[in-house]
Amino acid sequence: MSTVLVPGGAGYIGSHTVVELAKAGYDVVIVDNFYNSKPEVLNRLEKITGRRFPFYEIDCCDKEKLRTVFEENKIDAIIHFAGLKAVGESVSIPLTYYRNNLTSLINTVELAGEYKADKFVFSSSATVYGMSEDVPFTEESPLGMCTNPYGWTKWMIEQILRDYSVSNPDMKICLLRYFNPVGAHESGLIGEDPRGIPNNLFPYISKVAGGTLEKLTVFGDDYDTPDGTCIRDYIHVTDLGSGHVKAIEYLDSHDEKVCVFNLGTGRGTSVKEAVAAFEKACGHEINHVIGPRRPGDIAVSYAATDKAFKELGFKAQYDIDDMCSSCWKWQTMNPDGLPG
Ligand code: NAD
Ligand code: UFG
Repeated sequence: MSTVLVPGGAGYIGSHTVVELAKAGYDVVIVDNFYNSKPEVLNRLEKITGRRFPFYEIDCCDKEKLRTVFEENKIDAIIHFAGLKAVGESVSIPLTYYRNNLTSLINTVELAGEYKADKFVFSSSATVYGMSEDVPFTEESPLGMCTNPYGWTKWMIEQILRDYSVSNPDMKICLLRYFNPVGAHESGLIGEDPRGIPNNLFPYISKVAGGTLEKLTVFGDDYDTPDGTCIRDYIHVTDLGSGHVKAIEYLDSHDEKVCVFNLGTGRGTSVKEAVAAFEKACGHEINHVIGPRRPGDIAVSYAATDKAFKELGFKAQYDIDDMCSSCWKWQTMNPDGLPG
């Protein structure tokens, strides 16, 4: 069975993807510098899968340290999650974002080429579709007009990988554009564990529901949508994990040099609908107020899912109620996140 290297595998999406890779029978090697995750996640992964995966505490920006992973393991494929992802923070410290996200990617792909790990999956984002209002976003929708440095790192890395693929005849690349990943593993043992006050909707609602934060501010109810609040395509993180397994299988069985897939459900949920669904899951009201719009937010974003369904065989299995109930289970079992 082939071995998949997962840089950023201790993080939110990475850890859920490791579970799905293990379920599908892959060997996994994890690299992370714990910048935005904790060592405890490795114990939790062992509890869920019954396996202890080889782990390297390495910053992917340190190429020579990263090389040891390739020296000590025969890597067949890579799923690269090792990046910084907070949109607001990327505006305050743009150079840190460009340095970390680009260097981490360039080092990993360069070593992948050198050691002939020639299947490479990258965590891109719907953010590359920018401020366009032409929904649903298809893989052919225009790119660019990103609203922040984080988004530009995704856009740039997609281009870097396309350029690299031309120079390396053996390398096959899959760009996965995630919509809004939420929810947690059904065990409640792993989930999203942000540092400090969350920026994203679901971690914020969870903390209000759990009593750690007082109230949610809904960013604007005057958008041109049925209830006035923004619409997003929330996708369960376990579905996202299986999408990555499908991507590895796709690269194994196709000769395309670069393929691109949206990973979403194709269904939009408004902020107010998300709050109502979470109230149903936790059994009580979520204290919330309407505030001003958040700069950079678009009214509506959801995925065209036909290509991922037809070519990748990917279809999301979980709905918004499953996302909320798993999120709530994770929150109640780990009110302060993971220890450490
Ligand atoms: P996360 O922060 O939970 O996981 C990223 C992991 O990478 C963390 O464990 C962090 O410690 C590690 N890391 C960061 N820089 C590193 C480096 N230089 N060397 C080694 N490890 C490093 O984030 P996530 O939500 O799991 O996202 C994973 C990837 O998916 C990111 O690239 C993110 O941009 C992308 N993505 C996330 C979302 C989302 O909403 N969560 C949406 C679209 C794309
Ligand atoms: N929202 C609130 N209150 C909050 C937080 C969010 O009303 O406290 C609203 C936002 O205005 C938006 C919706 O909830 O309408 C979702 O916001 P998130 O911050 O959860 O997610 P975004 O759609 O803004 O962005 C996310 C990730 C990005 C990624 C993008 C597209 O944060 O990394 O999806 O993939 F690029």
